[in-house]
Order: sequence, then structure tokens, then C-alpha cells
Amino acid sequence: MQTLTIIGGQWGDEGKGKIVDCLSEHADAVIRFQGGHNAGHTLVVDGKKIVLHLVPAGILRDHVTAYIGNGVVLSTDALKKEIDELAVQIGDVSDRLKISEDCTLLLTSHAALDQAKELKRGGQAIGTTSRGIGPAYEDKISRRALKMHDLFDLESARDKAADLLDYHNFLLTRYFGVDGVDSDQVIANLLEAAEWLLPMVADVGYEANCLIKQRKKVLFEGAQGVMLDIDHGTYPFVTSSNTSIGAVGTGAGIAPSRIDHTLAIVKAYVTRVGSGPFPTELHDETGVEIARAGAEFGATTGRPRRCGWFDAVLMRRAHQLNQFNGLCITKLDVLDGLDAIKICVAYDVDGSSRDNVSGNARQLERCEPVYEQMPGWQESTCGIRDYDQLPLNAKRYLERIAELTEVPIDIVSTGPGRTDLIYMPSMSAW
Ligand code: GDP
Ligand code: IMO
Ligand code: MG
Repeated sequence: MQTLTIIGGQWGDEGKGKIVDCLSEHADAVIRFQGGHNAGHTLVVDGKKIVLHLVPAGILRDHVTAYIGNGVVLSTDALKKEIDELAVQIGDVSDRLKISEDCTLLLTSHAALDQAKELKRGGQAIGTTSRGIGPAYEDKISRRALKMHDLFDLESARDKAADLLDYHNFLLTRYFGVDGVDSDQVIANLLEAAEWLLPMVADVGYEANCLIKQRKKVLFEGAQGVMLDIDHGTYPFVTSSNTSIGAVGTGAGIAPSRIDHTLAIVKAYVTRVGSGPFPTELHDETGVEIARAGAEFGATTGRPRRCGWFDAVLMRRAHQLNQFNGLCITKLDVLDGLDAIKICVAYDVDGSSRDNVSGNARQLERCEPVYEQMPGWQESTCGIRDYDQLPLNAKRYLERIAELTEVPIDIVSTGPGRTDLIYMPSMSAW
């Protein structure tokens, strides 16, 4: 196993950051391939909390080169803030961070548009992170975005940015009826950023292919989760990028055939932030208890995460799309102490049973989960590192998930720390 891709198997926040950090111990390079600073990954290293948004989680390992691929929409302000915060926490990372010259630049005006759009949607709001992700991808697809390589020629970057900001300000003031942004300030910020950014700019796709050719270990880091995929998720309650396996090729610049192993990171239950259908959502005390035990608050926006039972139907769909080689089940310890645990094994849709549905939000809203109930366990699983030490009912629960999803378990996570992990024998190949 020389190349490994990490994909969030649910609606994000599955613990991808922690797992990327742990697996980076054996990686030479880590490449982020989609999304932007809507992502929020909390890592706990030696009891210290580190929150990452744009910088790949591999950065915490001194021997790792971290790459931001072309598929990412990049806010220079957010990146600067993150690099500065990391400098205080772990030291300067800029010499190990490389950014694709083809990254799309995300401007303050994109965030203003995101917020204005959400306001206009009213009760139908998506509940975005309001970072400007959707509008930045819109500009990319419409071929009017500024790319990182535009900063190679500051004069032309200034003109291009002025045109784009004119358009954004027209939308903000004339269509949405809100304040525009100060174009001169945005342009000044951008040109100032060019100075510290350009030394980090690289041909990431080329470097990734060279690393693979040299038999180096490369880890591809996904953000968000499959059910937030712009094509396959619960549209329109999704993010604006492809979060599934196909995005590795387009967002990092490698061929899909270069990926040896795809690991789905999934929680032992499910959470979701923002609006949209969530068939197994819990609206009772158990939901509140899981949210409390799992500290389920967003790392980017601080919003409470909605919690529910593990959904094997959606997971089977995620597997169909990604053909996962293994599962990493996180936050098993959060379920400690429950008397009973439910797994959604099918949906009842208008009286007929379905075990495979598309993410189509309208359809999902009509799905009633059909549950299988399993006994819980009263012992603590916190920090367990050996599969055999898990309570019998915890093992039965994990094995049932593997059986229902038809994906074997590679890793079980039993706490937020780096060592709170059970590696199954299949991972010895990494
Ligand atoms: P990501 O966006 O997928 O990286 O996930 P987040 O970082 O947004 O959310 C996962 C949260 O769960 C973080 O606060 C992690 O520190 C924490 N976490 C990760 N794995 C475990 C685990 O196995 N048990 C517990 N209790 N917490 C975990
Ligand atoms: P990580 O990488 C959970 C959700 C937002 C909203 C929808 C669209 O930490 O798992 P956007 O700002 O992307 O236009 O918002 O997507 N969302 C996430 N939810 N984890 C994330 O990232 C998310 N990134 C976006 O809450 O519902
Ligand atoms: Mg997160």
C-alpha cells in the first residue's frame, strides 16, 4: 500500500483530521484535494488541541511535505491566519507546505455573497459555513475566477481582480440589496499575500506523480463527506465540491488508477451540521447524550451538530460510489454506557422497503428508517488499542457494521488522542 485516500463516509466531521495525522507517521506527503476552509479538523496531540481548516493534517509530522491541490478553493487570509497560529503551536510550517498554482482563490467578496445568498434563501437556507465556498466554486466553473498562477503577474492580477469584484459588488448591491465590499482593500490584500505565498507555489500534480514514481508514500486527504458531495449528496443541502473518490484525480492531478487503498472514515453514529434531510436523526434524550459525550460542536462555526444512529443504507451508497477498501470507525467510545444501540438497515419509503437510495433530498425526506437493535456495553472503551480488549457487544456492533456495509474494518478509534486507535492487521501494509 503506497498511496492511501481518506474519504469522509457520512456528512463530514467523522474524525478525518485525527486519522490523517496518525497515518502520516508513515507518509512522505499528504495532499488535500478539494473543499476550502469550510473544513474544520480538531487534532489532539499530547493533550494539546490543534484546529486545521486548509493546511493538510500531515503537517504535524516534521518529515511530511503537505500539499494543497488544485481542487481546493483557497482564501489567502484564512491560510495566513492558520499558518500564523501553527507557528505559535508547532513552529514555522511554510517550508513544508506547497500550494498548487492552479488553486482557485477565494476572496472576501465570495464570503459576502455566500452570506447574502443564505439570507435570501430564508427558511430554505442550506446552513453553509458562510466562508464563500459555493460562490468561489461558481466562479471557477464559470471561468472567471482568479487562480493562484494569476499572482505571477501582479499587474494583470490587479485588473482581473477588479473585474471580478465589480461583478461581485453588482450582485451584492443590486441583486441582493446588501453592502458591497471595498474592492481596493481586497485587491491590496491579495497583492500583499502574493509576496509570502509565491515561494510556496508548486506544480502539485507533477510533484505528486514524481513522488508516486519514486515509490514514496502519499496520503490524499479528503474534506467534508460523501453525503455532502455536489453530485451524489443530499442536494441542495451539500457543499460545492465533489467529496467522493473521483475528486482525488481532478483535485490533486493524479490518475485514479494511482490510488492503492481508499479508507472511509465513519463515526460509530452519524452527525450533520447545517440543514438537510437526516433520516436517522435523534430528537430525544439519547441524541442529546451522544452530542454531549461526543462534544459535537463544529470546529469551523461552533454550531451544535445534529446526532443520529448509524445509517447502513447511506453507507452502502457511499461504498457503491467510492468502493472503499476499508472502514475506520471513529468515536466508538462515545457510545459507551448506552443500554441499546440502533442501526438503520433499510428505509421504508411510502410503504415499500429500500436498501439503496440516492442522496436526493426530496426522496430522503420521505424515508423512514428501519432499525435493528443491538445491546450496548457498559464498560469504557476509551483509549483501547487492542481489538480483543473491546467489550463483546462493542465487537458485535462493529462486526455488524462491517457485514451490513460489506466493507472490512481497518481501524477503530477509541478517543481523540493519537494513540487511541486500534489498527487491524490489514493496516500493517501501510
Ligand atoms: P473531521 O472534520 O472529519 O476531521 O472531524 P472533526 O475534527 O471536525 O470532528 C471530530 C471530533 O472528534 C474532533 O473533536 C476529534 O478530536 C474528535 N475525535 C476523533 N476521533 C475520536 C474518537 O475516537 N473518540 C472521541 N471521543 N473523539 C474523537
Ligand atoms: P469537515 O472537513 C461538516 C456543510 C455545512 C453545510 C454544507 C454547505 O470538517 O468534515 P459550505 O460552507 O461547504 O457551502 O456548506 O456543508 N459542511 C460541513 N459539515 N464538516 C465539514 O467539513 C463541512 N464542510 C461543509 O455545514 O451544511
Ligand atoms: Mg470537521
